[in-house]
Amino acid sequence: VAQAVKNATLDELREQVVACTACGLCDGRRHAVFGQGATPTRWLVVGEAPGEQEDRQGHPFVGRSGQLLDAMLAAVGMSRETDVFITNVIKCRPPGNRNPKPEEIAACSPYLMRQIALLKPERILVLGRFAAQTLLGTDATIGSLRGRVHALKTDEGVEIPVIVSYHPAYLLLWLQLPINVIIVIFGTVVAVLMVVFMRWSKRNMQANPGLHDQIGQEGHGRALDST
Ligand code: URA
Repeated sequence: VAQAVKNATLDELREQVVACTACGLCDGRRHAVFGQGATPTRWLVVGEAPGEQEDRQGHPFVGRSGQLLDAMLAAVGMSRETDVFITNVIKCRPPGNRNPKPEEIAACSPYLMRQIALLKPERILVLGRFAAQTLLGTDATIGSLRGRVHALKTDEGVEIPVIVSYHPAYLLLWLQLPINVIIVIFGTVVAVLMVVFMRWSKRNMQANPGLHDQIGQEGHGRALDST
């Protein structure tokens, strides 16, 4: 099977994914979701796994997350038909959208790696913690992975730039909250941070009682010196 995947064309790979029985997820699926988009592609977008709608329709990101993803792509002048290819780390829906298990990831990863080798994307956009950690082989948080360019080394020795972003489902969760709840949450966070900072600076001043006077005198002295 591994060799067949490594030698497959894109069409052959799609057939292999559709017929795959490499892990238990095949038992509960309606459709295996291979991916969709431009071939070859400038950008490869990689999500986690199909959800309910994707499992029903056989296409990636067709539910609410997909609508947001389309809007995000449109905002930068791209569309799923012409500019990107969208797929997932896992091709079959985990029951109840639970996190994929390590053995499911191991069984499915060769398909994604072959897709990358065949599609030769200029860049890879990884959506969400699970996909980012799997593709980059790290436990780092999404917050620390965002905002910089990573590299994925393919079996062919090519380095593809990878960028990481929040999963649209995570962003939707925030958008679903009423605005007054968001304000209360942010207000509370800011208030807590201010209290922590004030306690911290008070403790610092108690530990170094002369420091302020010293800084004042030095600053004044320097100002005088420079005149
Ligand atoms: N979430 C994903 O990660 N992938 C999909 O295809 C749909 C929702």
